[in-house]
Amino acid sequence: MELKVKDKESLLRRLMEAGGEPVSGQMLADEAGVSRTAVWKWVRELEEEGYTVRSIRKKGYVLEASPDRLTPALLRKHLKDDSFVSEIIYFETVGSTMPIAHREAQNGAPDGTVIVAEEQTEGRGRLARPWSSTAGKGIWMSVILKPDIPPHRAPQFTLIAAVSICRAIRETADVEVRIKWPNDLLIGGRKVTGILTELQAEPDRVQAIIIGTGINVNQEPEDFPEELADIATSIRIESGQPVDRAALAAAVLRNIGFYSRLYLEEGFAPIKGLWEENSDTIGRKVNAVMMRETVTGTAIGITEDGVLEIRTEDGRIRGIYSADIEPAE
Ligand code: BTN
Repeated sequence: MELKVKDKESLLRRLMEAGGEPVSGQMLADEAGVSRTAVWKWVRELEEEGYTVRSIRKKGYVLEASPDRLTPALLRKHLKDDSFVSEIIYFETVGSTMPIAHREAQNGAPDGTVIVAEEQTEGRGRLARPWSSTAGKGIWMSVILKPDIPPHRAPQFTLIAAVSICRAIRETADVEVRIKWPNDLLIGGRKVTGILTELQAEPDRVQAIIIGTGINVNQEPEDFPEELADIATSIRIESGQPVDRAALAAAVLRNIGFYSRLYLEEGFAPIKGLWEENSDTIGRKVNAVMMRETVTGTAIGITEDGVLEIRTEDGRIRGIYSADIEPAE
């Protein structure tokens, strides 16, 4: 059924769905049960938010351009109706989307709730490291999933997220992305995406998995802090083209929905295969740097639990649970 206009947001979605065709102001007013002036005021508010809406005499309103934002309306425009996304909570600026996602999950937010921000002032990465989250340049987003699985299977969702984001970036931009164990995405050896998976669980079942994804999209080199200059990159830097962030965020969500469903229906095997296929780590000689020791050898695969297996020179196979991976000479 066609969306019924009732407020500014639904008006925007109706204009988006019209795909450049004019929509009559009188018709919109009748449908919403408000005056034409009220519709005109919504249009003015949209223009103040950065949308370009043309008013054509006797025909109606046409949406000509949208701002570079990750608003629910723009994400929904790119998501198919059958998307698993249930609710999108949007912030212009926020400390971090992670605690908000935890709170929402505890308060009963359904599977598929998304928290997204234009900017994070206290973005955080793995091992409590800071995560640079410049305003309007990347995708800083936490997704709440509530699969019916035991807690020991939850780490597999980090690998599902890596495979999903890898595919979404390839669908949206002309770049070669690889996965570095456990959960970094690299282009040309530099980090373009980090994934932080956190868990709320009872002893025998998962309550919620929060997948935090930080994707460097449209940064220029000068947008990164000095300490990241040699190790981080953005899709724009690597492809030479600006990327539509809303289209990419929607592709990420669509793929997370698709691969989570595949995993719940068919188990981990297809995800493991895709992860290994897209991996930058498997087949390479690496140093796995841990707190107390460094293991050197050839990365041969991942286990069902996402543990990295390394064959050392003496032929032993070591399982690595948590480490920084570096190329070994
Ligand atoms: C890492 O590689 O260390 C993981 C980085 C994860 C960053 C994302 S951005 C959205 C979400 N909110 C955060 O504060 N962190 C995650």
